[in-house]
Amino acid sequence: MVNLVKVGNEKDFGKVAAYIVSSLVQTSPRCVLGLATGGTPVGLYKELIEIYNQGVITFEKVKTYNLDEYVGLPSDHPASYRTFMNQHLFNHIDILPENTHVPNGQADDLDQECKRYDEMLSEAVIDLQVLGIGHNGHIGFNEPDDQLTPGTHVVELLPQTREANARYFNSIDEVPQRAITMGVGTIMKARQILLMVRGADKAEIIHRALTGPITTLCPASLLQLHPNVTVLMDAEAGRLF
Ligand code: GLP
Repeated sequence: MVNLVKVGNEKDFGKVAAYIVSSLVQTSPRCVLGLATGGTPVGLYKELIEIYNQGVITFEKVKTYNLDEYVGLPSDHPASYRTFMNQHLFNHIDILPENTHVPNGQADDLDQECKRYDEMLSEAVIDLQVLGIGHNGHIGFNEPDDQLTPGTHVVELLPQTREANARYFNSIDEVPQRAITMGVGTIMKARQILLMVRGADKAEIIHRALTGPITTLCPASLLQLHPNVTVLMDAEAGRLF
């Protein structure tokens, strides 16, 4: 079941998302969060830090699993997703470093790394998965294709995905060709999903994902089958609803 929530401005977008996440952390201090990167959840993490600073919640027993990571970037590279998470959230809260998980895109054996990530995930059901959506309907880095992979795997990034993410690098040539991503099977197993969508350029894809056919050619369309999805949209992204 998909619940649509539209908010009017940027501040509320982050606040509403942070309310959903912090309510869970408050009522289930040992919860497992699935986290996302990209421009969209930045406001969520900012508001979450504010709520944490008010002393209302603690992350001491929370575990997190990130959706994805580039292959080949050092973990301290400014554009790595590990750096993103440290800078935007982990460095500012009381979460234990060993409880934060991001796939290791520098592993010598990437298949082994995918297996390791899946084994950890199989022991920890994700209570709440935060998601963004790519312009082509990807979730995590699960790109549109004739078939999708359920578990963690290595993906070849599509040119438009590399272009969309080039803003975090000096040039498009620096954007890695590959990434490790959680699979759609794992995402769909999360108890609850919070899909965050912002901006006019996402209006068409989110409309297609939620009202069009369920197809691997639009991975986010699979979310129509999930029992508990909240789609948080700003006015521009939600203009077709
Ligand atoms: C990347 C990430 C996705 C994210 C998407 C949208 O491709 N792998 O997890 O949802 O970008 O990012 P943005 O929020 O910057 O539009």
